Amino acid sequence: MTNHEKLIQVFQLGPQRIAMLTAYDTITARLAVAGGVQALLVGDSLGTTVQGKTSTHEVSLDQMVYHTEMVFRHSQGLPVIADLPKGTYDSADLAILNSQSLLEAGAWAVKFEGNPPGIASALNQAGIDFMGHLGYLPQSAQRFKVHGRDAAEAEELILQAKDLEAQGAFALVLECVPNDLAQRIQDSLSIPVIGIGAGAKTQGQILVIYDLLRLSPLEHLPRFVPQRYADGGKILTSIIQAWVSEVHQGSYPHEEETYG
Ligand code: KIV
Repeated sequence: MTNHEKLIQVFQLGPQRIAMLTAYDTITARLAVAGGVQALLVGDSLGTTVQGKTSTHEVSLDQMVYHTEMVFRHSQGLPVIADLPKGTYDSADLAILNSQSLLEAGAWAVKFEGNPPGIASALNQAGIDFMGHLGYLPQSAQRFKVHGRDAAEAEELILQAKDLEAQGAFALVLECVPNDLAQRIQDSLSIPVIGIGAGAKTQGQILVIYDLLRLSPLEHLPRFVPQRYADGGKILTSIIQAWVSEVHQGSYPHEEETYG
């Protein structure tokens, strides 16, 4: 089975919901795979989660290639989708060229934000699988907000979603839209909608892995990040504290941790 065929098999409407997480390197890829996700996104959210910047705006194509290679190496045959970062799909030629770099790094497909004229159709004609991304768009948004609350904006989102599907998108990420609108969008498409902050009615869900694990640099997590699981940050910090305290007391290393 080719990667394209497997991608279409994973991203189909049906009883099996799709769980996706972002991954940025070996460790996050391994954790997400072990946790049972169906696909990995090398998100340009690495600008905030890994690089500690306030936005994704400065993430470069070279950085996306570097992280995609690391994720692909530990993806265990799962589909890897990589974000085209801001400024890398300003024209059709640029979108194709830059997508090819991500595919060479191991991505099976790319994702881009919005529906800039000519980009979806150019990727489709070049035989490059792509995922759309509508709603809150971190590469261009002025601030974090829910999209599609008013009727005109909601209709526009539905139109754009249908257009991306018609232009060949195999799936659509929908970020921060009201539950009912997300359901309308899912019902009007025959490709899966992968929601983030878009309620429970979409075919799939995606989260930023560091938000889910509570290892995020964010002071306030968005409301769609579940906080009922363990706090990874606290657990890992307690391991480090235990070791630091043993070092300070002179009790590390123990005998079994010492070469004779
Ligand atoms: O960059 C990213 O992590 C994303 C997800 C939030 C969907 O685009």
